Amino acid sequence: MKVLSLIAQKGGTGKTTLSIHLAVQASLHGQKVLLVDIDPQASATAWWRRRVADQPALIQSQGEALSEMLASASQQGYDLVVIDTAPHSSHESVQCAQVSDQILIPSRPAILDLDAIGTSTELVTDLGVKAEIVLNGCPPPTRYGEPQIVAEARQALGVYGVPVCEVAISQRAAFSHALIDGRAVTEFDRKGKAALELDRLWNHLQEELTL
Ligand SMILES: Nc1ncnc2c1ncn2[C@@H]1O[C@H](COP(=O)(O)OP(=O)(O)O)[C@@H](O)[C@H]1O
Ligand SMILES: [Mg+2]
Repeated sequence: MKVLSLIAQKGGTGKTTLSIHLAVQASLHGQKVLLVDIDPQASATAWWRRRVADQPALIQSQGEALSEMLASASQQGYDLVVIDTAPHSSHESVQCAQVSDQILIPSRPAILDLDAIGTSTELVTDLGVKAEIVLNGCPPPTRYGEPQIVAEARQALGVYGVPVCEVAISQRAAFSHALIDGRAVTEFDRKGKAALELDRLWNHLQEELTL
């Protein structure tokens, strides 16, 4: 069983959006997935309650309960646990990082978001956990490739010593539309551009996690 956590001290960077989407994507690829919501705002839980499909499973938990919860998930035969965390909770982020095989730190490519990422990168570096920054909410690629703001963000993030994922996720209406009735973009518009980006992110993570 592998544990993937999404952490970022800043709100609105896409922790919940990517947690949900990666959990669904893994389920669609035949993994038995448990999505764990440790954010008291419970946005992932609200999405899951609107969902018709019964995969992935979801439970709410808290930082201090994670080890016990993971032991039980492992006994129940889960292949992957995806943990969606709250912003501004460095203590829980630490607890979460300690039990994770891999961390994703979503960031928008705007300068204020880039500035805010230091707390999260320090945390994963100090704990020595495998981590990647994933750029989310990016302007979509053009026929000339990645927009300049995304290339500049990659460069600016170089100073933090945490690799930036080669797959950037674009700002696309489908990412929020799909969530309205408890789905994910891959279920909402299978061949859409958002779904293709998600496919690429999932393929990349599958290799990283050796799933
Ligand atoms: N790639 C994206 N494209 C469009 N909307 C997005 C994207 N990522 C996130 N959003 C929207 O941005 C808002 C914040 O995202 P969310 O995942 O809740 O962030 P966090 O969990 O980090 O606070 C939500 O309204 C979500 O629908
Ligand atoms: Mg959230």
